[in-house]
Amino acid sequence: MLAVAVLAAGKGTRMKSDLPKVLQPLAGATLVERVLSSCRSLDPQRQLLIVGHQAERVEQSLSAHSGLEFVLQQPQNGTGHAVQQLLQPLGDFEGDLLVLNGDVPLLREQTIAALLERHRASGAAVTLLSARLDNPTGYGRVFADGEGHVSAIVEHRDCSEAQRTNNLTNAGIYCFNWRQLAAVLPQLRTDNDQGELYLTDTVAMLTPAMHLEVADADEINGINDRQQLAQCEAVIQDRLRRHWMDEGVTFVDPASCTLSDGTRFGRDVVVEPQCHFRGSTSVGDGCRIGPGSLLENASVGEQVEIIYSVVREATVASGCAIGPYAQLRPGAQLAEDCRVGNFVEIKKSRLGRGSKVNHLSYIGDAELGEHVNVGAGTITANYDGFNKHRTVIGAGSKTGANSVLVAPITLGANVTVGAGSTLTKDVPAGALALGRAKQLVKENWQLPQA
Ligand code: UD1
Ligand code: MG
Repeated sequence: MLAVAVLAAGKGTRMKSDLPKVLQPLAGATLVERVLSSCRSLDPQRQLLIVGHQAERVEQSLSAHSGLEFVLQQPQNGTGHAVQQLLQPLGDFEGDLLVLNGDVPLLREQTIAALLERHRASGAAVTLLSARLDNPTGYGRVFADGEGHVSAIVEHRDCSEAQRTNNLTNAGIYCFNWRQLAAVLPQLRTDNDQGELYLTDTVAMLTPAMHLEVADADEINGINDRQQLAQCEAVIQDRLRRHWMDEGVTFVDPASCTLSDGTRFGRDVVVEPQCHFRGSTSVGDGCRIGPGSLLENASVGEQVEIIYSVVREATVASGCAIGPYAQLRPGAQLAEDCRVGNFVEIKKSRLGRGSKVNHLSYIGDAELGEHVNVGAGTITANYDGFNKHRTVIGAGSKTGANSVLVAPITLGANVTVGAGSTLTKDVPAGALALGRAKQLVKENWQLPQA
């Protein structure tokens, strides 16, 4: 039997943030989400989250996460005090308790599985993850013999100068035999620099206590301040890019691009410098993205080219070309082979196959048929100050440069709109619509005299 407890009650004072530390985002997912997902494959019988500081906000952020039991720690008097709150809900649970710090988000599932396996094979009372860090400042130090037996963990601030030279550090990830832990939890004392109850003190009370050293020290990076947050972001970004390179994506300048967990790429995608993919964006085979583009919750088909553009909550079918300097806003849906050019904004509008909006346009709340050619500077005037209205343009229609279509308005198929027209009335299929002042020419015009 396995129970998992994640410690997420602390304030995170060193972050200097209004947001509880465990809700800080890292590559699109919060720290606590990452920690929870790192032990999903272990399929624990119980999952407990210890909340305290801004407990409601933390609980709310995880409302979609099923099977999670929230345990309140009030006030927050240290990691040992946090785990003491489990005495009642876990009661006489028979099995192992995996304790994870909510601010250690880079752990791999395999590492946690290996910890559990080692713990069960050795029959230890506690097995904890450790790592040798080049700079262990701030971490608890693990004192162990050559056989992996731990005698104690001493927090950085409680260490003597000599103890600080030990760079074997505590990851904040532990596997306990719950019965044995429950027996010693009430004995914790606050005789340390912070005057708190430390979970790490239970290690000296339990025998045998063992540690497992991780191979990749990056995995145990804890986040206590913004510098560590940035370091972890860099590690995650590196992992994500390497993963997608292994899947057949070319990054011309990997370090200049950021991804999120939800990003998906097909094969032979080329990502040029300075591109950012957020949320659950998917990019199909053979696309060329960038340089300089931001895609957020975007769905992009195959063989699409996007240059210096922003695509958010929008769908772009195969064969389209976007940019440079285009913005596809939420609800923009482009069918195959569309072309959206420079300084064009499209919002909540559908473009039929092969349609083109090449220059300087705003298309909002519109439905364009196939092969529509929107002339330079065409604007759909969709907003009357209170309501948004729809514009419909039939297949094969062409709008002249600088035309304004005042919605609600419907243009039939194969309509031609003269340049500079402001149209307020519907136009039937096949018609030419002109709505501009007639040109006046006065020959031999004399300038007024002074
Ligand atoms: C802790 C460990 C340290 C280890 C480091 C690894 C202790 C005493 N020290 O130190 O040995 O090297 O993690 O990152 O455990 N929390 C609560 N309730 C509290 C206090 C904290 O739930 O009353 C939670 C925090 O939200 C956080 C986690 O416990 O997610 C760790 O707390 P933090 O204050 O960051 O401990 P560290 O000083 O990093
Ligand atoms: Mg910490």
